Amino acid sequence: MSSLHVTQFQAGSGEGTLVLLHGFPVDSRMWAPMSAEIDPGWQVLGVDLPGLGGSFDTLPESPSIAVAAELVRESVAPYIAEIAPVVYGGLSMGGYVLFEVLQRFHKDIAGAIFLDTRVNADDQETAAKRLKIADDALASGNAEVVLGMASGTLSESNVHARPELVEFMKSLIETQTGEGIAWSQRAMASRRDGSATLGSFAKPSLVIVGADDHVSSPQVMRSLAQELSDVRFTEIPDAGHMSPVEQPGRVAGVINEFLDQVLAITRT
Ligand code: MLT
Repeated sequence: MSSLHVTQFQAGSGEGTLVLLHGFPVDSRMWAPMSAEIDPGWQVLGVDLPGLGGSFDTLPESPSIAVAAELVRESVAPYIAEIAPVVYGGLSMGGYVLFEVLQRFHKDIAGAIFLDTRVNADDQETAAKRLKIADDALASGNAEVVLGMASGTLSESNVHARPELVEFMKSLIETQTGEGIAWSQRAMASRRDGSATLGSFAKPSLVIVGADDHVSSPQVMRSLAQELSDVRFTEIPDAGHMSPVEQPGRVAGVINEFLDQVLAITRT
């Protein structure tokens, strides 16, 4: 299998590594503003998931979130060889990939951050909608069918008050290919429920949700948090589904506190 594109947002000074997995239909560029505020001691990596961003030409034959997780693990391995502890963070689709990463490689992971995501698999209706979007994206060859998500994933107040955020999201979505959109939708449609994985993950976890997230609401995220044994829950004001894009400083602040907690535990 070929590797995924990895962006090293900062090299850090050896404290640990934070691996970030982006949402749909964007790529790791969504993390740029937030990464700039992460504790400079930490290495920060953003992985472009299959078919998206710099991984546009990595399209394994069977679309699958589990395959994406295997590729993530293989792609970050050269960066994290000597920079532990390793903490993973995944937003929405990136969270689905994170469930599979934890399922397979939890022994090597010191902490997990779940942002604006959901633990349950799709019902039939949602899966069918995804397959239709996949077909439409392939037919057009571009990301037009999901361009509405530029504003649809932000909080309504940010859409009105901060048009630059909508433009930023658009600029990320517009560069995706029809093949990448289709692969991601098919992979998400066939993913499994992550509850069992969460129930057996005993390391520190952080759950972050935008207060105005209507895709994976605070209520949905609270029940996700209840499945974890060692968890902090934070609701971010003035943010929707793209909380790290909408409030990069606030989200980074919460993550920095969590990284300190992970360091304290791993050093005892
Ligand atoms: C995302 O932000 O990654 C999407 O909302 C995930 C999904 O479509 O379930």
